[in-house]
Amino acid sequence: MTAHTVTLVFDDGRIARIQADEDDTIYLAALKHRIRIETDCLEGACATCKGVCTSGEYRMDEYSEDALSAEEAARREVLTCQMHVLSDCVIEYPYPSTFSLKAPPATRNGRVAGIETVAESVVRLVVEPEDGDHGPVEFMPGQYVHLGVPGTDAVRSYSFANPPEETGRYTFYIKVLEEGAMSDYVAGPARPGDEMPVTGPFGRFYLRPPGRPIVMVAGGTGLAPMLSMFDHMLAAGATGQPIHLLYGANSPAELFSLEALQDYADRGLGLTTELCVVEGAEGWSGPTGHVTTLLRPEILGSGDCDVYLCGPPPMIDAGTAWLTGAGVDPGAIHSEKFLPS
Ligand SMILES: Cc1cc2nc3c(=O)[nH]c(=O)nc-3n(C[C@H](O)[C@H](O)[C@H](O)COP(=O)(O)OP(=O)(O)OC[C@H]3O[C@@H](n4cnc5c(N)ncnc54)[C@H](O)[C@@H]3O)c2cc1C
Ligand code: FES
Repeated sequence: MTAHTVTLVFDDGRIARIQADEDDTIYLAALKHRIRIETDCLEGACATCKGVCTSGEYRMDEYSEDALSAEEAARREVLTCQMHVLSDCVIEYPYPSTFSLKAPPATRNGRVAGIETVAESVVRLVVEPEDGDHGPVEFMPGQYVHLGVPGTDAVRSYSFANPPEETGRYTFYIKVLEEGAMSDYVAGPARPGDEMPVTGPFGRFYLRPPGRPIVMVAGGTGLAPMLSMFDHMLAAGATGQPIHLLYGANSPAELFSLEALQDYADRGLGLTTELCVVEGAEGWSGPTGHVTTLLRPEILGSGDCDVYLCGPPPMIDAGTAWLTGAGVDPGAIHSEKFLPS
């Protein structure tokens, strides 16, 4: 029997990974892993078990058109009591994990392995997981974890900047605020060796299979998950699609990873980058203003593209409003707001 890895993504951003035999329905495969998917009829008639398969190949047993219309099936909506996977898949459910997952998200022990200022008010933090019961965090590029702030009870969310293929060290880019629990720590007492618990992963902001052109909008440290996506695409050989990145910061001095962005293009990723800063400075000849002002119809090509936005909430709101106004399918717009805790 052939088995595939299936990632179940719940509405609150928690995920669960299971192995599913092709002969088993997803409902059954999940049950074998003690995960209960919401179901009722179990025969493809009621739609209670409906989800969306955002990645991978599958087949369906018989079901009623009343439960899943042809339009819904074309949008890759699935009845998971009738669904068999034919490859690794990602399935999203429209309800929180609390119904399906009994155990809380795993917390791993980690230690700070490196801390470096890479631009004005931006710190790169490297955390190494310690060997433990849970193994490395299995995440999708774009997702985030909760990091415990050493010496406090505070926990903050940070997006992985490293790809999932790199399991021995996790890289994060942290914007240093004038005042804040994590900001004070990274700007002050942070030292290699400090204990830092890592909980997760979480998030519905993750790279979809790169099957069409990609547009990305990153504000400040919102670039971090994009870097994870780029490294993953290179590692997976998924370099066939053009990627247009709009990357903005408050000032030129706050832009980071510019060499890495050039390097991705040199290594074969079809990446073009446009930079923008809110306030220019001497030597800056690029555009000024908010990064979303760089959005314009020609970037979208035919409009059949995947769009990823990450950064401050006002940037996401402005970008999403422009994109939907320009006719981009809301289902193709993926975003992560760096909301304060
Ligand atoms: C899903 C998710 C992923 C995230 N990923 C990242 C990441 O990769 N990199 C990153 O730098 N941040 C990221 N954040 C934001 C991060 O979790 C913290 O909110 C941020 O680093 C501030 O933490 P702090 O402990 O320094 O400040 P806090 O102690 O949380 O806040 C101190 C004060 O600053 C205010 N504040 C918080 N954030 C901001 C802000 N951005 N601008 C102005 N004022 C603010 C708060 O309202 C509060 O008054 C993410 C947030 C979410 C929800
Ligand atoms: S449980 Fe009724 S359609 Fe799947």
